[in-house]
Amino acid sequence: MIGAGTFGLRHSRFIARSDRADLVAAADPAFGTDRPVPDELRDLTRYTDHRQMLTHGDLDGVIVASPSEMHVSHALDCLDAGVAVLVEKPVAVDREQARPLLDRLAADPDARVLVGHHRRHHPAVAAARELIEAGRLGEIRTVAAVWATHKTDPYFDVEWRRRRPGGGMLLINLIHEVDLLRHLAGEIVSVEAIASNKARGLEVEDTAGLVLRFENGAIGTLVGSDSTVSPWGWDQATEDDPTFPYHPGQPCLLIAGSRGALSVPDMAVFTQSEPSWLEPVEATRYPVEGADVFARKLAHFADVAAGRARRLVTAEDALRSLEIVRTASLSLRG
Ligand SMILES: NC(=O)c1ccc[n+]([C@@H]2O[C@H](COP(=O)([O-])OP(=O)(O)OC[C@H]3O[C@@H](n4cnc5c(N)ncnc54)[C@H](O)[C@@H]3O)[C@@H](O)[C@H]2O)c1
Repeated sequence: MIGAGTFGLRHSRFIARSDRADLVAAADPAFGTDRPVPDELRDLTRYTDHRQMLTHGDLDGVIVASPSEMHVSHALDCLDAGVAVLVEKPVAVDREQARPLLDRLAADPDARVLVGHHRRHHPAVAAARELIEAGRLGEIRTVAAVWATHKTDPYFDVEWRRRRPGGGMLLINLIHEVDLLRHLAGEIVSVEAIASNKARGLEVEDTAGLVLRFENGAIGTLVGSDSTVSPWGWDQATEDDPTFPYHPGQPCLLIAGSRGALSVPDMAVFTQSEPSWLEPVEATRYPVEGADVFARKLAHFADVAAGRARRLVTAEDALRSLEIVRTASLSLRG
């Protein structure tokens, strides 16, 4: 693992529960400082420089959970060392920075690089995609997505989260919604956005609204804030990450088409015998079992590292989501 901060530590816990992977080494310059080493990481071989770690010799894969600005160079170092890499989102901070990685992947399309948009591993997402592909909603016309929660003040004590180009809730959080919307409703071809930093007064946005046009003609909205009290957001509506209290039954994505509608992840499906606002709308719940999403992501990475699986989220794919949120972040006003 490269980067043993907040999410690196969570990765170490996910790996500890997994029968598909063992964590053997971690690299973080903080290991050379007086920052306490969490108990979970004490038994690892620890390095202050990831390049030394990459000479460790028996690594099958590396998780890159360093600050977002470093993802591309760390991923390239892993590829140079012949090791598969799971790079956390965002894959880069902009297209220019991603270019060397894209060039590398163009030259070597089989390079084993997976991007950590873990929500795609949620069974509700697979079920939603199946329903949409089977035509249950007809032609998708509108989508609405929301992610609204309240981060704690100490979260912003970490310098990179307060400034551009790596910080801000668009790049850190709403990029997940953009990824899901693209995965479920189709490619996004244009975006108009308003972003504000009024709530926290930081250099980066804390609240944003995006209007999206999809290739298939659908129009969508996505609103989000990291400074609101609300139960609406993927982190609260699923049990993906036990760090966040679970508020079941809350929808995060509302997708409506010519023949029906769907809310995700609660998987309520709404249909009518004939489309008409004069007729009642029937609601059914599509059964979806909960699942350990991070275990699934890790198992997928193990398969990718072993060359047994096609990557669910490629770097090129992740870059498209990045470009949508980057465009939105340029609209920041105080
Ligand atoms: N998939 C998700 O849901 C999810 C959730 C949280 C964070 N993330 C992503 O994970 C990444 C890390 O986020 P975080 O919240 O853990 O940040 P963090 O600041 O808590 O941790 C980053 C760690 O990287 C270390 N680091 C700095 N320079 C380094 C270097 N040159 N080599 C190795 N390590 C270095 C820091 O010392 C720190 O320990 C971000 O890109 C973030 O977007 C993804």
